[in-house]
Amino acid sequence: MKEQIEQITKSALEEIQKAENSKILNEVKVKILGKKGELTQVLRGMKDLSPEERPIIGSIVNEARNEIEKTIEEKEEKFKEQEMQEKIEKETIDITLPSTKIKRGSKHPVNRVIEEIEDLFVSMGYDVVSGPELETDEFCFERLNLPQGHPARDMQDSFYITNEYLLRTQTSAVQARTMLANTEKTPIRMICAGKTYRREDDATHSHQFGQVEGLVIDKKERNVSLADLKGTLEVFVKKLIGKNCELRFRPSYFPFTEPSYEVDVSCFKCGGKGCNLCKQTGWIEVLGAGIVHPNVLKMNGYDPEKYGGFAFGTGLERLAMFKYAIPDMRYLYTNDIRFLNQFDRKDEE
Ligand code: DAH
Repeated sequence: MKEQIEQITKSALEEIQKAENSKILNEVKVKILGKKGELTQVLRGMKDLSPEERPIIGSIVNEARNEIEKTIEEKEEKFKEQEMQEKIEKETIDITLPSTKIKRGSKHPVNRVIEEIEDLFVSMGYDVVSGPELETDEFCFERLNLPQGHPARDMQDSFYITNEYLLRTQTSAVQARTMLANTEKTPIRMICAGKTYRREDDATHSHQFGQVEGLVIDKKERNVSLADLKGTLEVFVKKLIGKNCELRFRPSYFPFTEPSYEVDVSCFKCGGKGCNLCKQTGWIEVLGAGIVHPNVLKMNGYDPEKYGGFAFGTGLERLAMFKYAIPDMRYLYTNDIRFLNQFDRKDEE
């Protein structure tokens, strides 16, 4: 029996030695030490031995078993190491490989203008507010001194959703909202940039465009005057477009201001000499503005005897065109990356 065990051990160790991978090794393990394995069979046969022989053979079997197990374990360890090594080699990153370039987007010129305007006005103590794009007739018109049937409504062809709701035609609606939300609290200094919509679509008009609204209301004794409005707009336009541009105030009409003005800026393309962009006038209109109409104050919770202020509104696309000398408004909406990518550089200049 001793020889038999030695024989099994010897051939087992040889087989373990030869095993090329962990699968074969496992098969060897089962063949020798498994339930029906060769060594297990020997152990089973021990019951036929005499009581004297049993402990002797028992210890030989145990020794053999230990030796085989140890050898298998060592080999298993080796295989594991090998596998790990292969895995590490396979998974290493070749840092010399050129990376795939991630295309970086850039901020849209209109958004750049919005951010710049907001920063500027915040630095002058204004709040940045917002209002809904789906607006009511009440806020878009009525509370701004434009009752039903008012002829000035014709200037703003609107997208009505129902008789009551429309897509706002002007950010001026936010003036009424701000006043109502503050009722007689002063001062109001707010700026609001956002999308506006009108039912027009031709070479110089888009059905959706951007506006910025500004509103300042304070107590009468603080005398918020036309001079303040003029000074504010000068700072605003010159900061945004450039120190060298000229501003011109023309009397005009808006239902929510009295007196009202339209503000022109000297043409960026010809510098005021006259060209096709400014229709040979040397000026381009950029702003509407004026002193807040007493009716607007009254309708939105401010007693016109006690409070007063100014308001202005302007188109964002126009400002972007001026700032970056963009000759055609449609470039802003055609989503051409060759156009859009230029603005990072322009801002650094
Ligand atoms: N809301 C006017 C428009 O869309 C622009 C405007 C004019 C706004 C005068 C004002 C203002 O706040 O005082 O044409």
